[in-house]
Amino acid sequence: MNRKYRKTVIAGNWKMNMTASEIKPFIEQLKENMPKTRACDVVLCTPAVMIPAMIKAGKEVKVAAGGQDVSKYEKGAYTGEVSATQLADIGTKYCIVGHSERRQYHGEDDMLVNAKARALLEKGIAPIICVGESLEQREAGVTMEYVAYQVKAALNGIDATQLRRCIIAYEPIWAIGTGKTATSEQAQEVCEGIRAVIRKIYGARPARAVSILYGGSMNAKNAAELLAQPDIDGGLIGGASLKPVDFATIIAASNQ
Ligand code: PGA
Repeated sequence: MNRKYRKTVIAGNWKMNMTASEIKPFIEQLKENMPKTRACDVVLCTPAVMIPAMIKAGKEVKVAAGGQDVSKYEKGAYTGEVSATQLADIGTKYCIVGHSERRQYHGEDDMLVNAKARALLEKGIAPIICVGESLEQREAGVTMEYVAYQVKAALNGIDATQLRRCIIAYEPIWAIGTGKTATSEQAQEVCEGIRAVIRKIYGARPARAVSILYGGSMNAKNAAELLAQPDIDGGLIGGASLKPVDFATIIAASNQ
C-alpha cells in the first residue's frame, strides 16, 4: 500500500452466495469485529438483486455496495441483463468487470470487458477491472505479457480523468477459490508491472494514483503480508468475504 498517493480498497466478492435477508445480520457481525477507525474503503459486491439491501445495511458502517457484472449496452432488448444506468439509479458505487469466472463461463473477452468498464464510467460507477493469468500461462513464463495486454485492452479509450475512478484487481486464475495464494513477491511483481503498463499509457502521476488490488485466496492469515507490498493497494476477496469475522480481520490488516 502507499496511502500517500492512492486509496486502499478492501472489496468482497460474494459471487452467487448469500441472500438479501442475510445481509443485515452479516453487517451487524462485521460491525462488532471491525476496527473503529479504518484507513480503507470497504465494498461488498453482491448479486444485483441484493444491492439495495446492501446499500441500506452498509450505510451506517460505511460499507459500500458493488455489482459483479454489467451489460455493455445502455438499454434495450437484452433479456436478463442489467445496465449501468440501472445500477447507478439504485446507488451502486462500484462494479466488478472481467472477473475470470465471467471470462471462463460466459466467454467474455478483453474488448467486452473494456466496453463494460466504459459503460460504468459513463454513469459514474467505479469499475473493478479483473485481470490475471492461468496456471499454464504462468508456467509458460508469459504472465506479465498477458496481464499487460489485458490491462491495455481494458483501458482502451479511457482517459486520465476516468482512470482515477478505475480500480484494477490482479487475480491469478490458479489462486482463485483454490486456497493457493500467490506469494507476496509474485503478487507484488505483477501489481508493479501493471502500474508500469499504466505509467506507459498515462504517465507517472495517474499511474501512481491507481489502486491495484490483489485477489485469489486472500484471507485473514495472509492479508497483512500481501497488503504490506508497495504496489498492492487492497484486496478482492471471495471466500473469506463471506465470513464476517475473517473479512473484518482483513479490513484491520489494511490499517497497518
Ligand atoms: P477467492 O476469490 O478469494 O475465493 O479466491 C477471489 C475472487 O474470485 O475474486
